[in-house]
Amino acid sequence: MQHPNPAGVRRLAVLTSGGDAPGMNAAIRAVVRTATQQGIEVVGVRRGFSGLHRGELAVLGPRDVANTIQRGGTILLTARSHTWRSPEGRARGAQVLRDWNVDGLIVIGGDGSFHGGHYLQEEHGIPVIGVPGTIDNDLYGTDHTIGYFTAVETALDAVDKLRDTGASHERIFVIEVMGRHAGHIALDVAVAGGAEEVFIPEDAKSVEGVVEIVKASVAKGKASSIIIVAEGYPGGAQGVADAIASGTGLETRVSILGHIQRGGAPVSSDRVLASRLGEAAVYALMDGQKGVMVGRGGGGIMYTPLHETWEKRKDVNRDLYRCAKTLSI
Ligand code: F6P
Repeated sequence: MQHPNPAGVRRLAVLTSGGDAPGMNAAIRAVVRTATQQGIEVVGVRRGFSGLHRGELAVLGPRDVANTIQRGGTILLTARSHTWRSPEGRARGAQVLRDWNVDGLIVIGGDGSFHGGHYLQEEHGIPVIGVPGTIDNDLYGTDHTIGYFTAVETALDAVDKLRDTGASHERIFVIEVMGRHAGHIALDVAVAGGAEEVFIPEDAKSVEGVVEIVKASVAKGKASSIIIVAEGYPGGAQGVADAIASGTGLETRVSILGHIQRGGAPVSSDRVLASRLGEAAVYALMDGQKGVMVGRGGGGIMYTPLHETWEKRKDVNRDLYRCAKTLSI
């Protein structure tokens, strides 16, 4: 089906930037195939904004993205680039896009990547559309980000395994999950993993309280406990474990799950989300939209100015936070 193209887009570029997230390939695939179907040529930029700066571009066709929907990582490669932070870097990137006759850029990434896209557009007038790709789920303007669902499944699988060994040894496991400054992953994993307690940056409670919780658990007959800590919580898992060890004398173990949470085949929810948002990003460019992130919420596609995705804060689900406490008796 042909989508109206009042913006007259004939060629667009796509890049992935910042931390990779499972489902980024599904989003690239959706961009390439939607654009191709609309008669628009796609240019893939390798290594995010660093690659753009260096002119690492190549035309991408539908067959180039075959057999990628199920693959983790990003076939375009990614980088945490600082080139967009300098006016010279942005000017160089814009010139490369003009040299390639690109009418618009689709940026798949998180808030650092969106900063780059925002300034590129503000200063050089190149239409930019953001697609939320980060495991952290910390972007305002979308219920979920691409990669989040998979990261939660990966962390949950690890928690279930740690519970087996924790129960066998009657130990307390303090498990740190990713999420940067946000506690979304921690909260979902805590509820789904049946954790005794969860520490998130959105609630700066005292770690001393955890000592009482663990003592109460022991008094109730619990021989082992699972405690989830978001990496953004002050002191991290080690701080919480130290407080438990010194306050109770009980044996604790710390497990920091780390980058394993960014890998693996995307689960179906991430593939579907990425496919919908990749398609929507192409249509948004054709409609003449610029400087917005396409997100999903309220049962449909939402458009949020790029700067609002980091200026406005997406809170954790407070009902879920309450539920986590209710169920850990
Ligand atoms: O933003 C994704 C993320 O995995 C965060 O959860 C984490 O804080 C950060 O990236 C780690 O970044 P790096 O891969 O640069 O160590």
